[in-house]
Amino acid sequence: MQFEWQVAPMNEWHGDGIVFFCFEKTSTPPSCLERWWQQTSTSLPESYTWKDFRGKPQEIALHYEVAKEGIPRVLLVGLGPEDKFDLEKFRSAMAAATRKSRDLRLGKLVLPLEALQDLPRDTNRLLEEALVVAKTSLHRFDALKTRDVEPLPFPEEILISTENRPQAPASGIPPMAEGIGSGICLARDLVVSPSNRVTPSCLAKTAQQLSGKYGFKVEIIDLQGAQTLGMGAFAAVAQGSSEPACMIVCEHCPQGLENTPPLVYVGKGITFDTGGISIKPSANMEAMKQDMAGAAAVLGALECIGKLKIRQRIVGIIPCTENMPDGKAYKPGDVIKSLEGLTIEVISTDAEGRMVLCDALTYALRYKPALIIDLATLTGACIIALGKHVAGVLANHEGLSKAIQNMGSEVGEKFWPLPLWDSYFESIKSDVADFKNVGDRSAGAIIGGIFLKQFVPDDVPWAHLDIAGTAWADKDQPTSPKGATGFGVRILVELARDPSMVKSLS
Ligand code: BES
Ligand code: ZN
Ligand code: ZN
Repeated sequence: MQFEWQVAPMNEWHGDGIVFFCFEKTSTPPSCLERWWQQTSTSLPESYTWKDFRGKPQEIALHYEVAKEGIPRVLLVGLGPEDKFDLEKFRSAMAAATRKSRDLRLGKLVLPLEALQDLPRDTNRLLEEALVVAKTSLHRFDALKTRDVEPLPFPEEILISTENRPQAPASGIPPMAEGIGSGICLARDLVVSPSNRVTPSCLAKTAQQLSGKYGFKVEIIDLQGAQTLGMGAFAAVAQGSSEPACMIVCEHCPQGLENTPPLVYVGKGITFDTGGISIKPSANMEAMKQDMAGAAAVLGALECIGKLKIRQRIVGIIPCTENMPDGKAYKPGDVIKSLEGLTIEVISTDAEGRMVLCDALTYALRYKPALIIDLATLTGACIIALGKHVAGVLANHEGLSKAIQNMGSEVGEKFWPLPLWDSYFESIKSDVADFKNVGDRSAGAIIGGIFLKQFVPDDVPWAHLDIAGTAWADKDQPTSPKGATGFGVRILVELARDPSMVKSLS
């Protein structure tokens, strides 16, 4: 899908369909729509009054301008009541318009900038959201189908139409949305792809490809290298798999920023989680191909950050391995020494995420980071606590946690805080080691965070994002089809783009 500007008087705009957004129960049409109707000298037909189109959320009315030379179709999309309007409603409305355009096989959809100016939100934000939704809401993964593949989704082009030539920052939004969209689509494709394809080596290859495209520094530490460095916790998980494991270290460093503290993004890259010796039940085990969604979010964000040349030093650290039962696999009761030097008593080999992440977090400290964010499909308990639409944020810094919640709600990624009080440590006390890798069944998502917190000094702002629920949608969502969601890409991009937030942390 392409984004193009169309700068011309309204009555000269062209395209296969034009979209307008309308609030529910308003007696007058939005001013842009009214002007468009006047200037194209087509009258509002009797059959098409505000009585039959109510403007309910995602409601669509299609109107044909049969006699006209200009744009032949008008799509009115409902936003619901104005006092309940938010960006989520807007994204859903835009997704509905995009779906309708596909069903109608429209090649070029006209999105009037003036229509966005009518809405009570920042126009640039609305434009970015509209374009990201247009690019991602129809995204499908057909690469492994050899038959019954439907034709490519339409529309091919969004014509962002306006009467006056757009200035910065508006003019920079289409490429930004393009970058975010590609990042999300990359993350989704990696997560939906099966583990016999998306192996640790495949993730490493993806990082190398990004490095080739955008000039990232990339280092792939193999299992032997990890062992030599002392990454005992990562190696413990990896030693049970015959698929070669690796720790990916990828750096985006714009010129002149070599000496600035980077943002470090750490992503859990378990390409398949059987549970290991603490093996999982076989029902639904196939879902555990998604256990590298944290890794995918980091790679997706790097795709966008590289493409957009975002001026911020970013390091991605991605521990990648399968978690398998095997003669060489680590076992319950084993005591493992982490890169930090802390010893861990393994109670469940299925709590492998925190094992691989803790060494990645310790490695991250080498970069003297401005902040560390880790993303992981870490616990089923997070799904029990917050459901499938909200990710947990567990942070050692109140301001960072708030910033993630606020930025997340702007871009459609919901986060809710869980506490990291020291009293929770009680449940992972060990008789033989510094601590255990799991506690009892209570507060599972928090215990995951408490474990990781042992590896991050208090003066390094850090947030752990538990995306176990949000990485995968069991059914179609308003703005994304069922399957991998690409959750996490957007928050990472937002953090990278907002240097003032980073400054406020120190
Ligand atoms: N990968 C799973 C968590 C998960 C569950 C992700 C559902 C996505 C959907 C993780 O490695 C795991 O197995 N966690 C255990 C932790 C327990 C052993 C403390 C869990 O959630 O049961
Ligand atoms: Zn597990
Ligand atoms: Zn896992």
